[in-house]
Amino acid sequence: MPEHMDLGKRALDMKTFFDRKADGYDDVHLSFMETKRTLTDGLPDGVSRVLDLGGGTGLELFPLFARFPDAAVTVIDVSPNMLDALMQRPFADHIRTVCGDFFAVEFGGPYDAVISTSALHHFEPDDKRTLYRRIYDCLAPGGLFLNSDKISDNRQAEADAFTFYRAHKDSGKYAHLDTPLAPSTEVELLEDAGFRRITVTLTDRDNYRLFRGEK
Ligand SMILES: C[S@@+](CC[C@H](N)C(=O)[O-])C[C@H]1O[C@@H](n2cnc3c(N)ncnc32)[C@H](O)[C@@H]1O
Repeated sequence: MPEHMDLGKRALDMKTFFDRKADGYDDVHLSFMETKRTLTDGLPDGVSRVLDLGGGTGLELFPLFARFPDAAVTVIDVSPNMLDALMQRPFADHIRTVCGDFFAVEFGGPYDAVISTSALHHFEPDDKRTLYRRIYDCLAPGGLFLNSDKISDNRQAEADAFTFYRAHKDSGKYAHLDTPLAPSTEVELLEDAGFRRITVTLTDRDNYRLFRGEK
């Protein structure tokens, strides 16, 4: 049996980490704009109802609102400080925020698209399967899930990341530890959740991919 992480604890760790980072967050993440823009580039015309998982300060929403100025976007994020920064954005009137853990809050819906970037690389495959099923369920028929996120190069690197995480999670040595999955694991989980026409696309960063699936 896989050793499962304490999801509640990990969400709390994320809240603490990103609450502290919120002020300087954009300075670091503006250099990741291509990995964020790729979400909007992957959407078809006519999208209006969008769920953004881990939307943080909303950097990926600048390209989204440039293309879909009338979109209504729900952002779920566990960090109140990140959401406070988000609500300073010029598009705040089009945003509904839900502050809480992906595994605990209602997603609402139906949505034309669920998007996420840099936010889902902290979960065991079994937990992520649950998450992907919830995403599938909140999409309208034909809706899209687009996730631009960190990857491990392969299954061995994925296993190594979890081993490292388990060995060091309580050491206090690292403020933040990532456990990204291999692309082949991501595809399996998306298939298990019911997604079809799944594609995996390179981004401008070697350790990021854009995963896209249709309901
Ligand atoms: C690296 S930031 C990405 C923010 C934004 N998507 C971007 O690309 O700039 C990750 C975000 O996911 C949120 N997050 C992490 N784990 C979460 C969880 N379990 N439930 C809800 N939000 C979570 C964090 O609070 C943070 O705002």
